[in-house]
Amino acid sequence: MNRYEHDTLEQELKSIQMLGLQLPTDPRWVNLAEMELEEILTDHAYCEQKAATSCISLIQQYPDKTDMVKSLAPIVTEEWGHFRAVLAEMEKRGLKLGRQRKDEYVNELLKFQKKGGSREDALLEKLLVCALIEARSCERFRLLSLYISDPELRGFYHRFMVSEAGHYRLFIDLAKQYAGEAKTRQRWQEYLAKEAEIMRELELRGDRMH
Ligand SMILES: [Fe+2]
Ligand SMILES: [Fe+2]
Repeated sequence: MNRYEHDTLEQELKSIQMLGLQLPTDPRWVNLAEMELEEILTDHAYCEQKAATSCISLIQQYPDKTDMVKSLAPIVTEEWGHFRAVLAEMEKRGLKLGRQRKDEYVNELLKFQKKGGSREDALLEKLLVCALIEARSCERFRLLSLYISDPELRGFYHRFMVSEAGHYRLFIDLAKQYAGEAKTRQRWQEYLAKEAEIMRELELRGDRMH
């Protein structure tokens, strides 16, 4: 390993630790995604749409959490802006938005949510699932921003990486605010372990963001 590779690896490890994720994405995923650009952009577009709708649902379900409503309202706009940015990128490249796919990753995470607790418990589950999806998306956007061969796409993905990192932090902060630091930390660790297990079992596909 030369110095450059060593530094890159170091940096990568640090950033994954920062997000808390336990399992780094296999870098071969970028090559697969690159071969199926229309598919990966379609999947990405729907991820952004789902991110916007989950913020809207949180606002509808918890209008009493004033701080959360205030912080999530602009995120809805931002995520919808991301959806539009993906659409514009596809149009520019003569690619077509396909149909929405089954999101196995998110479905598995949703299965892990604790059901039947209080309304407050349910909020923590929802916020942590949002945080996790943002963290993994951020990790994957980072890989695309570093290794995809088209330099324009590297810039495109870099912008998403930065933005989703901010969202990840926001969801964690909201969880701490409403559920307390200790409870959030403990449940977050459980989610991280589960997420690594899900990632290990999911097939590495170039037509999926996760
Ligand atoms: Fe987004
Ligand atoms: Fe986001």
